[in-house]
Amino acid sequence: MLSHPTHAFAAGRTALVTGGSDGIGLEIARWLALAGARVLLPVRNREKGERAAARIRESAPGARLELLDLDLARLDSVAALVSELRDAGEPIELAVLNAGIVQLGERRRSVTVDGFELAFQTNCLGHFALALGILPLLRACGARIAVQGSVAAAGARLRWGDLQGAQRYGAFRAYRSSKLALGLFGVELARRSAAEGWGLGVQLCHPGIAPGSAIAPALRALLPPELVRTATAYLGNPPRQAALTALAALAAPPTASPRMFVPAGPFGLAGPPRERAPFAELERAGDARLLWELAARWAPIRP
Ligand SMILES: NC(=O)c1ccc[n+]([C@@H]2O[C@H](COP(=O)([O-])OP(=O)(O)OC[C@H]3O[C@@H](n4cnc5c(N)ncnc54)[C@H](OP(=O)(O)O)[C@@H]3O)[C@@H](O)[C@H]2O)c1
Repeated sequence: MLSHPTHAFAAGRTALVTGGSDGIGLEIARWLALAGARVLLPVRNREKGERAAARIRESAPGARLELLDLDLARLDSVAALVSELRDAGEPIELAVLNAGIVQLGERRRSVTVDGFELAFQTNCLGHFALALGILPLLRACGARIAVQGSVAAAGARLRWGDLQGAQRYGAFRAYRSSKLALGLFGVELARRSAAEGWGLGVQLCHPGIAPGSAIAPALRALLPPELVRTATAYLGNPPRQAALTALAALAAPPTASPRMFVPAGPFGLAGPPRERAPFAELERAGDARLLWELAARWAPIRP
């Protein structure tokens, strides 16, 4: 069992982890449960969520886990979860914006019921709507928020005239752009929190590469199973270690501009967490503001 010195901060706290039904998010939830946090797990598939909770309880028998419903690719689903949490009125002290998809292996661009490109809405816009919807619950306790990015966001570019990839689409391009957009949301959330005195601690992280998660199912289905097995065994971080950068982000004390936590190995692909400067693309304050304004137009913020 890996151990990590940042566990103690989570004891007795309420944490919310998106994407906790699989992969890295399940392991983030496991670490938090082991540390004694009460963990809210909003999932899009309850049965899968139950199985994930059972897996967590195998190593954390006393885990306090609560499943909730959330499909980040539907604004009505995000709004329903926001209402449920706000009606309950309990502060959320730790939040990990982790759920994510990459449509590698799928040639066609997918559009959600709300009319947005699927990766953009799942990875960025849905999290924007969720985090701002529950902002009163986060502000109530000076919450710490970890924003799960990707090494693929380094060097990515937002094409402001075609953020949804309607004119030119590629699955990897859409993913990189959605992850950069999510990171910029984190940067602007931290800036506004510092300016308005919201008291939030927002930090960025990415897990390196974790072939042992369930990400990119369409690509996996195209690859020889032996290649997938070998990649899982020898490449990158196992999900349990990949989860630790988000833990390090949650453990970091609040700062006016986000810090970034990544795996310490070569190119940030594997290894235990270390801190580094955010990618240059995330340092563009004007881009962060513009992204926020566009997202607020597309997913209006409930006061
Ligand atoms: N694995 C890597 O190599 C890697 C590299 C860089 C960054 N990341 C990032 O790490 C994060 C976790 O990825 P992972 O590798 O753990 O992937 P994963 O095993 O596929 O897990 C993704 C999680 O996100 C959830 N999710 C997907 N779409 C959703 C939606 N519409 N609404 C709510 N939840 C949704 C999934 O739910 P279901 O169980 O229902 O599918 C699952 O719980 C992602 O943000 C990803 O971009 C991963």
